[in-house]
Amino acid sequence: MNESFLQACRGERASHTPVWMMRQAGRYLPEYQKVRGTIPFLELCKRPELCVEVTLQPLKRFDMDAAILFSDILIPIEAMGAELSFHEGKGPLIANPCRDAEAVGRLKVAEPANDMPFVQETIRLLRRELDVPLIGFAGAPFTCATYLIEGGSSKFFHETKKMMFGQPGLFHRLMDKISETVIRSLRAQAEAGAQALQLFDTWAGVLAPCDFEVFALPYVQRIFRKLRDLNVPLIYFANNGATLIDLSAQSGAHVLGLDWRMDIGDAARRIGRLAVQGNLDPLALFLPPDELKERIGRLLNGARDACGHIFNLGHGIHQQTPPEQVRLAVEFVHELSAR
Ligand code: CP3
Repeated sequence: MNESFLQACRGERASHTPVWMMRQAGRYLPEYQKVRGTIPFLELCKRPELCVEVTLQPLKRFDMDAAILFSDILIPIEAMGAELSFHEGKGPLIANPCRDAEAVGRLKVAEPANDMPFVQETIRLLRRELDVPLIGFAGAPFTCATYLIEGGSSKFFHETKKMMFGQPGLFHRLMDKISETVIRSLRAQAEAGAQALQLFDTWAGVLAPCDFEVFALPYVQRIFRKLRDLNVPLIYFANNGATLIDLSAQSGAHVLGLDWRMDIGDAARRIGRLAVQGNLDPLALFLPPDELKERIGRLLNGARDACGHIFNLGHGIHQQTPPEQVRLAVEFVHELSAR
């Protein structure tokens, strides 16, 4: 078993800097497109043997140091009662957005064993195949709430902020239900064999720090507090989170994921004992190889004093990324960080 990822999460020195990439299984891989050609995305997420195949696709091509479960942050949201669908080019849509007390009341706290057993089954199957650690994940409550309230992706988060500012009590009730679902989902994933857990807070960066502190962070803290006993590394990724970094350091995570807008060395100095994960601009994968290598070298150097560094992108891989560039990036990380 290649332990470099788990060692870096714990702040231990590994033989090289471990690397994995957000959205490493996905549409930039022709073999993923081939599977997707036969089945809609949401159905794919519910078929363990296909989720296993797709999770393993990047690991067959590249020397990644961790695998991430193939699923979606909206799976538990659907299990709560959201009428979820995905449309080509439009992203996720929820037909019954949750905008009033009745709608919040109707949502249920999901029960993983009954409502999403395919996730745990995928994890059990994957653990038999993998020789690198498997990362489980969920959406952070605020990010999940935006999808539930807006009914899909959003630009200005008008409905979310309307509820947050206008009916804070209702917003907190919604966050309570989501958080309980996330706790149960992540616990079930760890019990099925996930060896690290990441919370994706894709939209945290649209909040002012004062609102993040009141409406989002306490729920992240609750989730990590309730999962501490699992003894697996807990990773918090707040996208566009430079202005939230000092607060994020109080989340209870062992590892902070960083987007590319932040200098990794500055971030590492500010967060002290926590490990860092990140943070190459995903578009840097389009650079000529020598410039890509130079940039990866600078990033590794910037993170040299961090209490553990896991190399990653600052957000998910773009669909047009040439797989060959991903292979080169992984090789450069390993070569330049070998100790
Ligand atoms: O490889 C991995 O990283 C693991 C799998 C994974 C997916 N989604 C697969 C996926 C993970 C960890 C996610 C998380 C996720 N899902 C997030 C948080 C991370 C982030 O990117 O900020 C969010 C916000 C979602 C919600 C979601 N799911 C969106 C906005 C979309 C894109 C819709 C579109 O049409 O572009 C998805 C779909 C999705 N999730 C795809 C994949 C591979 C593409 C689906 C397809 O095949 O068409």
